[in-house]
Amino acid sequence: MYVLFTVLASLLFLPVLAQHFFPYLIPDALYIVRIIGNAVKMSRYQRKKPFYTLLEYFLDQVKKKPDKPFIVFEGRTYTYLDADRESNRVARALQARARLEEGDTVALFMGNEPSYVFMWLALGKLGCTAALLNYNIRSKSLMHCFSCCDARALVLSQELKDAVKEILPALREQNVKVLVLAEQSDTEGIESFQDKINQASDDPLSTALRSNITAKSAAVYIYTSGTTGLPKAAMISQERVWVASVILSNAGVTSQDVIYVNLPLYHASGLFIGVTCAIERGITIVLRRKFSASQFWDDCRRHNVTVIQYIGEIMRYLCNTPKKDNDRDHKVRLAVGNGIRADVWKEFLHRFGDIKIRELYAATEGNIGFMNMSGKPGSVGHPCLNKQEPVRNSEGLCLEVSKGETGLLVAKISSRSPFNGYARNPQQTKEKQLQDVFQKGDLYYNTGDLMRIDEDNFFYFQDRVGDTFRWKGENVATTEVAEILLMVDYIEEATVYGVKVAGFEGRTGMAAIKIKEGKQFDPVDAFSHVVNYLPEYALPRFIRIQNSLDVTSTYKQIKMKLVDEGFNPVTIEDPLYFLNGQKKSYVPMTAEIYSAIESGDIKL
Ligand SMILES: *[C@@H]1O[C@H](CO)[C@@H](O)[C@H](O)[C@H]1NC(C)=O
Ligand SMILES: *[C@@H]1O[C@H](CO)[C@@H](O)[C@H](O)[C@H]1NC(C)=O
Ligand SMILES: *[C@@H]1O[C@H](CO)[C@@H](O)[C@H](O)[C@H]1NC(C)=O
Repeated sequence: MYVLFTVLASLLFLPVLAQHFFPYLIPDALYIVRIIGNAVKMSRYQRKKPFYTLLEYFLDQVKKKPDKPFIVFEGRTYTYLDADRESNRVARALQARARLEEGDTVALFMGNEPSYVFMWLALGKLGCTAALLNYNIRSKSLMHCFSCCDARALVLSQELKDAVKEILPALREQNVKVLVLAEQSDTEGIESFQDKINQASDDPLSTALRSNITAKSAAVYIYTSGTTGLPKAAMISQERVWVASVILSNAGVTSQDVIYVNLPLYHASGLFIGVTCAIERGITIVLRRKFSASQFWDDCRRHNVTVIQYIGEIMRYLCNTPKKDNDRDHKVRLAVGNGIRADVWKEFLHRFGDIKIRELYAATEGNIGFMNMSGKPGSVGHPCLNKQEPVRNSEGLCLEVSKGETGLLVAKISSRSPFNGYARNPQQTKEKQLQDVFQKGDLYYNTGDLMRIDEDNFFYFQDRVGDTFRWKGENVATTEVAEILLMVDYIEEATVYGVKVAGFEGRTGMAAIKIKEGKQFDPVDAFSHVVNYLPEYALPRFIRIQNSLDVTSTYKQIKMKLVDEGFNPVTIEDPLYFLNGQKKSYVPMTAEIYSAIESGDIKL
């Protein structure tokens, strides 16, 4: 039930529209009118010279409604004008400290706070690109992410200083300016930056600083766990920012709405739906550091929130909170996000009242997206088969799945729906592209997502393929976790995969390992190692110790078998361990632990 929503200047998909949704055009007229309106608007922006970026649009919003609250955060309100002035200060301080030039990149390593948005605006004013680091990553991954987009400077918030100290020698080797958002810093090599911001002038910056920006210029780098290896920086161009910034408009959000943002701003959903879409609509953002199920509705009530954003987990956590008399006492009318399960959806509506849910699908770096507009079907992008790799016919072309079957979602790459690839990673960029899909020589973007289309062309997300799985809204690259495990001296081999757990979206991490001859598994040491090196969501919750390796199958077959076998100690003969946070150790897996996990008594 997804209707295509991105597709720059949707003119491109008019023929597709006619072909696929003609019967539904009339009932869905309002949505189609909005999309076409936005498409026309965008093609107008595109023709402007220089390119009319979202930043210039923000500056026009500031002129139109300077006093409108823009960000509400922990008891403080910043108007559109405040944000403009504050970002002028930040831009000037950045200019002075880091000598930035148009086209340079600065990495942000910060949690959700208004400064995040000011930084982003400031970099736009300098014609620079922001690289948005995930604040959960550490050590080797952090250094890798930082390095792969050639950033000149790193801006961090005070609470992440320890993580940066760990990689400081490597940063200094690369001559990187490291700036902490604090009034002072006692660490050599980390300069205080908040004091410099406070002292800087808030006069507007010359547009000449960004005069060379075009539709194709990099606006942000967002990190994604693609199919293999360490995270990759997906380049989001200025025109892609626009495409993403009309999602709320397409979903029917008006300039009177108030949006509640608690997803991390380093992710596309937090940044685009939460911030750039809000700018596009000229609305107020109620920003939170982190999602809190217990505070959620109180926040919504206190700030008259009308639009919320979600990932599947959030909706489930909200449904799991104790029922209250005032559950329906709020003004939320719309929820936009992805990953909600049908049963949670029903329960959510039943409990919290009449809220329209707009489920959408889009990959950060991809060139395709859909939105579920209340039961109206849509389809674009041709799925071809099958489980891990596309099935090809005798001519080497992909087979299209039939209705009802699950297939891999791919989307044609063209000048109107380009795939910008990953910074300094041509190999991975190439791997995300599929050639000879329906015709010799054609080129498609491989989303890595399995979808099913039903009789009415409604899309249903099924799973991810390849060497990633999704857990708590984050993609986990199995090879990255395996590399971390292999750092342990007694582990000879490690295969990492995701397993399904009853009651959860996505999959949680599991590793099958082989211990070196004459060595032993040390559950306490293994625990502290993974906890030190991996973010919470990527931890292998189960470890399976294998002595003999299956040599008759391919690696992929072995992995699929492991996934299917899961973590049930009754059916698996190998020693199994479970990561126990309280005991700070892996503990032997038992039938009791297994059933407590399946029944939800043990929280993962
Ligand atoms: C814009 O590009 C021109 C030509 O490439 C260059 O001379 C000029 O310095 C650039 N402007 C800025 C602000 O970088
Ligand atoms: C929320 O709405 C009520 C009634 O419309 C109004 O009295 C109140 O001031 C509003 N609160 C905020 C924070 O805007
Ligand atoms: C789309 O939305 C409708 C109701 O708004 C819902 O019944 C349906 O299950 C949704 N479909 C998907 C695939 O999410």
